[in-house]
Amino acid sequence: MKLLEGKKALVTGAGRGIGKAIALKLASEGAHVVCVSRTQENSDSVAAEIQAAGGSAQAQALDVSDSAAVDSLVGALVKELGGIDFLVNNAGVTRDGLLMRMSEADWDATLNTNLKGAFLMTKALTRMFLKQKSGAIINVASVIGLIGNAGQANYAASKAGLIGFTKSTAKEMASRGVRVNAIAPGFIQTDMTDALKDETKESILEQIPMGQFGTAQDIAEAAFFLCSPSARYITGQTLVVDGGMVM
Ligand code: NAI
Repeated sequence: MKLLEGKKALVTGAGRGIGKAIALKLASEGAHVVCVSRTQENSDSVAAEIQAAGGSAQAQALDVSDSAAVDSLVGALVKELGGIDFLVNNAGVTRDGLLMRMSEADWDATLNTNLKGAFLMTKALTRMFLKQKSGAIINVASVIGLIGNAGQANYAASKAGLIGFTKSTAKEMASRGVRVNAIAPGFIQTDMTDALKDETKESILEQIPMGQFGTAQDIAEAAFFLCSPSARYITGQTLVVDGGMVM
């Protein structure tokens, strides 16, 4: 029997990159996965990939920063599935630029998806989690939330906020058997990082003791661990997965 057999997971930003890898991994370990991304097309394609591999999945389009849409989708899913065991708040965006030139729109777009999105998703499921008295929430933060980065004040603030949110919600839910942890990836090769200039990538590589970028699979393995019974006594933590970049 697979470790996550009979469990249900909801992964945001599951249409590609890290979220897709997490969705595939949790499904391969036996969980039924609700793949949520901004477009129905991307969600459908990941759910189809899971099903083709013999797993169980369904697909939804959702903007996690839209509170009405979050409430209505989460309400319908809880009714349909009877509960959710794992919530992975992975949806995230960057709108990089030096503070002097950063527009209010770039600040809002980043905070609204990365931080408010996790708040809305978690809040919509909190009553269910507390009644269920079990479950795990994983917030995908970033090492940038720990160390900051020139040109990413909005992103760093959103990810540092997510780590504080993780600790507070972990304290609120611990006595009901619900664990909340964050993962702080370093530099992971995805569409988000492919957009960076080659010289930026080279200078980041020099700061990674292991001498290589991470893969979405590396983050998926960490997410699986935090969902699994092996992590039953771990809550409120930030697991850094970065090849030694930040220590
Ligand atoms: P990506 O850009 O490849 O994928 C992001 C996903 O989030 C996409 O599927 C997109 O549709 C979805 N998304 C964005 N805004 C959304 C919204 N408002 N509602 C619903 N879905 C939305 O990015 P990647 O690299 O896979 O990143 C995933 C997470 O990991 C993000 O939170 C990112 O900040 C974080 N991260 C990534 C690192 C990297 O090196 N790639 C490093 C550290 C953290």
